[in-house]
Amino acid sequence: MSEDTKNLKDLGSLLNLPKLNMPSEEEFNSFKKKIASYIGLNLFNYKNAQMERRIVSLMNRNNIFKLDEYYKLLTLDKEKLEEFTNMLTINVTEFFRNNDKFDELEQKFIPDLLQKHGSIKIWSAGCSCGAEIYSIAMILDRLNVLEKCTLVASDFDQNILNRAKKGHYSRFELGTIRAEYKKYFKPIDTAGEKFQVDDKLTSKVRFERRDLLNGTFEKNFHLILCRNVVIYFTEEAKDKLYADFYNSLTNGGVLFIGSTERIHNYKEIGYNLNSSFFYQK
Ligand SMILES: C[S@@+](CC[C@H](N)C(=O)[O-])C[C@H]1O[C@@H](n2cnc3c(N)ncnc32)[C@H](O)[C@@H]1O
Repeated sequence: MSEDTKNLKDLGSLLNLPKLNMPSEEEFNSFKKKIASYIGLNLFNYKNAQMERRIVSLMNRNNIFKLDEYYKLLTLDKEKLEEFTNMLTINVTEFFRNNDKFDELEQKFIPDLLQKHGSIKIWSAGCSCGAEIYSIAMILDRLNVLEKCTLVASDFDQNILNRAKKGHYSRFELGTIRAEYKKYFKPIDTAGEKFQVDDKLTSKVRFERRDLLNGTFEKNFHLILCRNVVIYFTEEAKDKLYADFYNSLTNGGVLFIGSTERIHNYKEIGYNLNSSFFYQK
């Protein structure tokens, strides 16, 4: 590689410009097929431009400029494979993310569903490290109904699921939790930096690995949370997912989505928009 080309590449990555070595569509398709059979993740359902840009930027970070070399690296190096799946499945989350919406759940949707059904079945789809499902578990415990409810949480990423099952969080991660919920976390180190969520909550959640873009879903949920997961999915993949969720809900069941998301064709699928970000079957 000439010095000029190298300098241009370096400048390009600094400025986040399109890279000189953008693989062809054919190369990407072959890479996606190999990844699908290697780790079972269907990249064809992710928005092309964004995903491909992120793959190229990861390749460049590893000084690799050909997709087949990058694929070889992923099959040989576990850490690189982890870096790759992390890039695709960004795990950012927080407890009671968009607090006012969780207030609405606690004061309106959950009590209504409980009144109608007695006990309810809830699914956090794309649960990351568990902050979302444990937020729900804390609400149910405060309403004295945790024991009789069923809680399921799923994610594609096995590492993040292992973290969720353990229920260990840093002081920073607990930063957004209101005082009344702090009692659910016990310090597990002398510095008071690491906390363990109460067994009462961890033992109530069934965690499972699931790719939302593949396979069939369990039925009879009263509440499904799928928040900040679909941002990189294609429109077709989102349409299918929201219709699949509809089929997994009981009549009157509620789908709760992220605060930057919308279901444009919700009426067509059969939902009513009960309140912003809450779609009811
Ligand atoms: C940004 S986090 C959102 C966590 C939580 N729902 C929230 O709103 O705070 C997105 C999660 O979706 C998961 N995810 C992305 N694509 C997925 C897929 N195809 N199937 C299942 N989970 C997926 C990621 O692994 C990640 O943990």
